[in-house]
Amino acid sequence: MTTNVTDLAALRVGRVREIATARRGLRGPLIPILHAIQEDLGHIDQADVPVIADVLNLSAAEVHGVVTFYRDFRRERGGRTTLRICRAEACQAVGAEALGAHARRRLGVDFGETTSDGAVTLDEVFCLGNCALGPAVQVDGRLHGRVSPARLDALLGEVVP
Ligand code: FES
Repeated sequence: MTTNVTDLAALRVGRVREIATARRGLRGPLIPILHAIQEDLGHIDQADVPVIADVLNLSAAEVHGVVTFYRDFRRERGGRTTLRICRAEACQAVGAEALGAHARRRLGVDFGETTSDGAVTLDEVFCLGNCALGPAVQVDGRLHGRVSPARLDALLGEVVP
């Protein structure tokens, strides 16, 4: 039996509703709900917005406004690996900008983009809580400190042969 696109969309709506409903009693539930959806489903799809709005009794415009305001929320499917480079002050002071430029060159994408083969999404982040060990990066959620361009190549080599 095959699963068609409509089935997948319905499954996603069900999962989004489930995630939102489980958290709607939280104080300020929208942000935690969006994080949970992104963690579970990879991104916040435009079709998720009315479902979340319905569960929280908000307007779709309100939910959309929050999704688009925060850089943390991805609105399209990301790559199989996500590389996040810290561009906040402490990391900038020890070479984060050069590291970011190196990553953009090596991957051929800008921040917020995914390589054409779907392998890697490059994201910027403003502090990973690892300021004493900058430049800091995260590869699929795993934190790395004092990352030089050579070390970044090595880390990427593990996920992008
Ligand atoms: S400034 Fe980069 S981890 Fe805090």
